[in-house]
Amino acid sequence: MPVQVLPTFDREFSFLRGDAKKLLIEGEWVEAASGQTFPSINPSTGATIAHLAQGDARDADKAVAAARRAFEGPWSKVTPAERQWMIWRLADLVEENYEELRLLEVLDMGSPIGRSPEAGATRAVEVLRYYAGWATKIQGETIPNSVPGSVFSYTLREPVGVVAAIVPWNGPLSNALWKIAPVLATGCTMVLKPAEQASLTAIRLGELICESEIPDGVVNIVTGFGETVGAALASHHDVDKVAFTGSTVTGQHIVRAAAGNLKRVSLELGGKSPDIVFADADLDKAVPGAAMAVFGNSGQVCCAGTRLFVQRPVYDEFVARVSHFAGALRVGDSLDPATQIGPLVSAGQLDRVLGYLKLGPVEGARTTVGGERLTEGPLKDGYFVPPTVFADVTDDMRIARDEIFGPVACVLPFDTVPEVVARANRGVYGLGGGVWTRDVGKAHQVSAALKTGAVWVNGYLHFDAAVPFGGYKMSGWGNELGARSLDEYLNVKSVWITTD
Ligand code: NAI
Ligand code: MG
Repeated sequence: MPVQVLPTFDREFSFLRGDAKKLLIEGEWVEAASGQTFPSINPSTGATIAHLAQGDARDADKAVAAARRAFEGPWSKVTPAERQWMIWRLADLVEENYEELRLLEVLDMGSPIGRSPEAGATRAVEVLRYYAGWATKIQGETIPNSVPGSVFSYTLREPVGVVAAIVPWNGPLSNALWKIAPVLATGCTMVLKPAEQASLTAIRLGELICESEIPDGVVNIVTGFGETVGAALASHHDVDKVAFTGSTVTGQHIVRAAAGNLKRVSLELGGKSPDIVFADADLDKAVPGAAMAVFGNSGQVCCAGTRLFVQRPVYDEFVARVSHFAGALRVGDSLDPATQIGPLVSAGQLDRVLGYLKLGPVEGARTTVGGERLTEGPLKDGYFVPPTVFADVTDDMRIARDEIFGPVACVLPFDTVPEVVARANRGVYGLGGGVWTRDVGKAHQVSAALKTGAVWVNGYLHFDAAVPFGGYKMSGWGNELGARSLDEYLNVKSVWITTD
């Protein structure tokens, strides 16, 4: 394995130098019980950038016990206002160290360093600051009842307890923060299991949590594989809730594993989101907008607009323009500021996506751009796939049904509104949806008719800490972000006081 040569930065960047990374349990960095490590790979080069502790069920046990002790002990004595300030302080630490966290994400996961300003420090910490504010506003109700006599009733909203947060690799910093923030705000404790393909940001976040005033054991981090640590957490009898983001198949495993103690489960799963371009759309906006809705982050986005339905009168023009746009995107090393499309996260994902690139033409799709792995020059050891457009796709093709999770757009022609709504709603997923039109009535009608947890009109992939996000159908259970998602981490208790 070649060893990664690090670029020089303004600040000392020592995180990747030194020994293998350890597990965070009760405020201490400890070796895995197995004593084994596994490599963390930079997908732009195939180089090993760090070694990570390979946790297993024994480490999961220790981490859950630590989270339980913190939940029953020190954390239960922290006031809501103190929790608020601890989260706020963590947000400050994340902001101060954002450049380093981003660099770890760039090296470990392959997201381009020059990516949109949208993904800046302010955006990343917003979720912490948003939930910091909620810590002091979680309140029950006093509810009039009709029980004879003098009986007074009210509700309390209490933390569910120990949360296992199992997260993917496609936006490692946000994947972790979207779970950490509501866990802290509601007074739960947690074991975080980052994805084996990109765990470094989570480990660095763990160091920042140790620097903050958050008590030991509130956030524990166990690295390792899904089938071992992940499965152990999902089936653990002392875990009260699993918060999972990842594939639908793994979500199903988690639901089955959770049945043992009927722990609470929230799921943010896969998608095959329809993005509908009407003939009256402003194509100058729809072409780049719809293209980046698929190709951004190399297509490794749960709600990527991968089924591009285009109305027949503009179909040929749209296919030509989107193919031209895709062909002009610059694919390269994630550390190059000029790169727009980085590599896929891992050799495994590369194989998977290449399989679909082969399948498309076999199923009868027309490849207008891309279609083959890039291996020239400096790209030779990385996992690079160019933005690819399949035109003339039909609903029954596997490329139109499966979540590919690569920079692959399937373009499907359509004629009428009822037809496209029915076709868009086919399939098992219901995560995102897009509509491009100048007709405000049509925008509202189609938004209402799509069976998806989010619809973006004349734009795509807007997110905000205050706005809920979640999936219909097999795209998930429950919401992340927004005020409602607090309930995913809370129990409601009714208290009845007889006063006479
Ligand atoms: P995955 O869903 O298996 O992995 C996500 C997380 O779950 C990781 O932390 C993993 O270690 C853990 N995990 C895996 N198996 C587990 C088990 N049996 N019990 C508990 N935890 C387990 O996804 P993977 O294998 O990384 O990617 C495969 C495909 O999944 C992708 O090609 C993509 O289609 C989809 N995916 C979708 C994501 C989304 O946000 N919708 C995110 C990641 C992957
Ligand atoms: Mg990696």
